[in-house]
Amino acid sequence: MNAHLTDRGAVVTGWGTALPDRRITNADFEARLDTTDEWITERTGMKVRYHGGTTAGLAIDAGRRAMEMAGLTGTDIDYVLLCTTTPDWHVPASAARVQESLGITGGASDLNAACSGFVYGLVHAHALIGMGLRRILLIGSETLSRITDQEDRNTAILFADGAGAMVIEAVDGPGQLLSFDMGNDGTAIELLYCDIGDHLKMVGKEVFRRAVTVMVESARRSMEQAGVTADDLTLVVPHQANIRIIEAAASRLGLSMESVAVSIHRYGNTSSASIPLALVDAIDEGRVRAGDLVLLVGFGAGMSWASAVLRWPAMDGRTAS
Ligand code: UT7
Repeated sequence: MNAHLTDRGAVVTGWGTALPDRRITNADFEARLDTTDEWITERTGMKVRYHGGTTAGLAIDAGRRAMEMAGLTGTDIDYVLLCTTTPDWHVPASAARVQESLGITGGASDLNAACSGFVYGLVHAHALIGMGLRRILLIGSETLSRITDQEDRNTAILFADGAGAMVIEAVDGPGQLLSFDMGNDGTAIELLYCDIGDHLKMVGKEVFRRAVTVMVESARRSMEQAGVTADDLTLVVPHQANIRIIEAAASRLGLSMESVAVSIHRYGNTSSASIPLALVDAIDEGRVRAGDLVLLVGFGAGMSWASAVLRWPAMDGRTAS
């Protein structure tokens, strides 16, 4: 699965994030559920998360910021790919609202690969560019608070809302994506699922156990395909589900936590928004420069997983003809 599908690669040229207004602390859960700040912090690493808004609304805000940064308007975008496991409706795709609101003249669709969604979407975006599209708005946006039972201490503390977006543009030559890996094990569907109209159900311990394994294996496959080792990576951005999962996977991969992006204490688990939210924070903190190697690795319901190695591009605004 080498990523050099075509001579036409892609690079990221803009990014943005969005969070709803309602800030929820561990103390807020402590006040109404049988839980404590200490338990939540120790068992998950979470401190604060945000609830509210709609999936399309958050996606529009994050997408607009990414387009502004890239210096683009809606008519420049060939496709909006909205990664979400919490669409606003069954029909149509929530991306239709994003397309309309941002004045995008190209296609629009949703992609649901649960918490692996953003990395799946990144690969899809590169594939579409390889086939001739020029500019894609890739968004991970979620309103998980709407499908979480807020009375269930097992899940209420974990799942939250937010969005992160990236503009991906065609370039002549291989571009930023060095390798990728995507997979799914449908025998594990029952471990984490949500029926239509119901709340999320999760077998937390088993998801935890499998999460570490699939993250490590997927990351290794991507690193091997890219011909890089853990020491070569400047930044690793894992899905933010539990600090203990992140630490266990990092340790097995031989990664120092200094290279790992952690924003779980700020946003909780925002599924397909968690990787772009963590990546944008890391960029803002100056942790990645042109030429650096970046590993993204996600896992989630499905049970799905996906990883990708990127060579971080120079922001010189080049686009292919
Ligand atoms: O992004 C999608 C993928 N999702 C994940 O990756 C989540 C993976 N799983 C996890 O992160 C962890 O399994 C959890 C954070 C969900 C749970 O942590 P754990 O260390 O696996 O705890 P546990 O489920 O084994 O529960 C231990 C105890 C139980 O009590 P008993 O049976 O020992 O008396 C739970 O009822 O902790 C209890 N518990 C809580 N206690 C206080 C569960 N939730 C809470 C809570 N506050 N919020």
